[in-house]
Amino acid sequence: MTDEKQKQRDSVRAPDPSDGPLTTDQGVAVEHTDDSLTVGDRGPTLLEDFHFREKITRFDHERIPERVVHARGAGAYGFFQPYASCADFTRAAFLQDPSLRTPVFVRFSTVQGPRGSADTVRDVRGFATKFYTPEGNYDLVGNNFPVFFIQDGIKFPDFVHAVKPEPHNEIPTGASAHDTLWDFVSLQPETLHTIMWLMSDRAIPRSYRMMQGFGVHTFRFVNAAGHGTFVKFHWKPKLGVHSLVWDEAQEIQGRDPDFNRRDLWDTIEAGQYPEWELGVQLIPEEDEHSFDFDLLDATKIVPEEQVPVRPIGRMVLNRNPDNFFAETEQVAFHTANVVPGIDFTNDPLLQARNFSYLDTQLLRLGGPNFAHIPVNRPVAGVRNNQRDGFHQEQIHTGTNYTPNSLGAGCPVLASTDAGAYRHLTEQVDGQKIRRRSPSFDNHYLQAALFWRSMSDWEQQHIIDAFRFELGKVSAKDVRARTVEQLTLVSADLAKAVAEGVGVHAPEGSQTPTPEPSPALSLENNKGDGSI
Ligand code: HEM
Repeated sequence: MTDEKQKQRDSVRAPDPSDGPLTTDQGVAVEHTDDSLTVGDRGPTLLEDFHFREKITRFDHERIPERVVHARGAGAYGFFQPYASCADFTRAAFLQDPSLRTPVFVRFSTVQGPRGSADTVRDVRGFATKFYTPEGNYDLVGNNFPVFFIQDGIKFPDFVHAVKPEPHNEIPTGASAHDTLWDFVSLQPETLHTIMWLMSDRAIPRSYRMMQGFGVHTFRFVNAAGHGTFVKFHWKPKLGVHSLVWDEAQEIQGRDPDFNRRDLWDTIEAGQYPEWELGVQLIPEEDEHSFDFDLLDATKIVPEEQVPVRPIGRMVLNRNPDNFFAETEQVAFHTANVVPGIDFTNDPLLQARNFSYLDTQLLRLGGPNFAHIPVNRPVAGVRNNQRDGFHQEQIHTGTNYTPNSLGAGCPVLASTDAGAYRHLTEQVDGQKIRRRSPSFDNHYLQAALFWRSMSDWEQQHIIDAFRFELGKVSAKDVRARTVEQLTLVSADLAKAVAEGVGVHAPEGSQTPTPEPSPALSLENNKGDGSI
């Protein structure tokens, strides 16, 4: 399968090691690699044994920091192909031509555990896609839940610290969750909607091939006329959505901790290529305030009854990477990697992510030149005045500044017509404040909607999961406070959980009654996803 990305990978592949003798990094042939150079038969090793020193040093430096979250993952290459032109909404080149196949690399991951942890834990799954488009790389860095735990990225370090094992001994007090997580949840009601997803079977997918993906945030499409449309991204697996049940998940953790990775690898090797459909919910700019929640709030979904999902293309994964470290470990996704025709919103979680990914990758991948790493390298040409730094792999010539009347080789600036990125013009006014918008306030309604949308047995699985996880929390007041929060989702749920975790559900609790949103009357939405 040769696409532009594959040709590029082929051009940087390491030489076939069987083509010649073993050498040092300097290309010097080595005749013996099993014994170090010593004085006599039983004497000390000599410092001048450069082959020994190089071999050990290189081994000592093999590890790089694992990702601070989403450390464990599995990846694959493939392609994305739109069904039809999306020119009405976006000028993104990879969404114009139904005959154009754009190469992609996808990495699936768990969030909480370290690189060596088991696959089938109760957790969110990452679903990150890098599109190598003719206009540069576009990264859709999503999860398998459509909502997130917090509304503002400034809370992310607190949230992740609470989710990770206890700092003093790195042991969670419970199985996959523990005191600190539930303490945080009980004190931060904005987490509840996503906690409901986490306690559901969605948190133990049977296979990466059977998992939905979501962009989570509201993004923007921008068309050639500069007109913006709000957009939510959805990946739907062709095989349908399937989960494990908790007992299976636990048994598999012991029997085959690589269960999801192996499944992805083996099925691709067997030619059973997994496939997803990309769908979008499109919301006209003028309908921004038509909902009973804020479009900038990542703890909320846009219900599909109000804005249907419109399928726009398909993605097929058909090639395993050649080297896990070089590709799956070194791939660097970033929400701010966008192409002309795709833009951000002011969602405060997204804005934080747009800072965080590049920042962490500068550390994780050892400096500013990680876009030269083959898996990260765009197939679009790269020309700029960025220079030097650790691991510079290119030999630049000519001058390196703009504006410039002297230099041969200085890149010219593109016009928007010639494909330059231009941010959507948006009116923004206001005072500097450090306060959440009151439009982000309602934390319970969509959690209650989620609960009510579940069948009896799905509800029972959620109750069982709460009992299992929350039941392991040693602090009784944390268990009681969490149950108190649950009463605002469903009195029945709260009562059932309370009975299983040794606390009382407060009397007379009120479950919110979800009302249909006024957005149902979205006038411009034709109900088939088009606007
Ligand atoms: C990694 C998704 C929120 C910081 C990842 C990855 C995914 C992801 C899929 C793994 C990427 C890979 O496979 O390499 C999400 C989603 C979020 C979210 C869907 C919310 C909607 C945040 C926030 C922050 C953050 C709020 C920080 C403010 C990070 C960092 C990494 C990461 C630092 C590691 C990146 C690396 O080392 O390459 N996230 N994330 N994420 N995320 Fe997020």
